Amino acid sequence: MGNEESFRESLRLRSDKDVSKARVLISQWAVRQEFSVIERTRAMTAVSEIARNCVVYAGGGTMYVSSLYHEGAPGFRIQIVDQGPGIPDVDQSMKRGYSTGGGLGLGMEGARNLCRAFRVESNAGAGTTITMDYWK
Ligand SMILES: Nc1ncnc2c1ncn2[C@@H]1O[C@H](COP(=O)(O)OP(=O)(O)OP(=O)(O)O)[C@@H](O)[C@H]1O
Ligand SMILES: [Mg+2]
Repeated sequence: MGNEESFRESLRLRSDKDVSKARVLISQWAVRQEFSVIERTRAMTAVSEIARNCVVYAGGGTMYVSSLYHEGAPGFRIQIVDQGPGIPDVDQSMKRGYSTGGGLGLGMEGARNLCRAFRVESNAGAGTTITMDYWK
């Protein structure tokens, strides 16, 4: 991120209530950075899905939000980090309809399509970090 000034916030994710707090936090970031209502809604929806997965599949974790610049365009980076069981096959987990929890299997695929850049770092037994970037 070079020498641009950056600002970072974090939020513990333990319960559904924290998932709601995560939505509010991202909404505030989007408003502060003057994103459109549509972009704000996309970010809130993506965060809901990934934060909920963190609570359901990993028993909780932490969300970090920081400011970023992408080729001069301002935005923010969301990272949701857990020390849970990890995802043995990341490609499979992103496929529409794949769920180990009796869900619809839409969350990961949906979130990926609701941000500018989406990255999953995970290994079986080593937790999961999901990064979602937004910029204008
Ligand atoms: N943080 C995580 N730790 C471990 N496994 C995860 C994590 N996030 C997702 N997964 C795995 O990836 C699968 C797909 O996740 P996805 O959100 O797409 O679907 P789902 O949560 O099963 O259903 P839906 O989100 O549609 O209710 C999950 O069923 C789970 O096996
Ligand atoms: Mg899900």
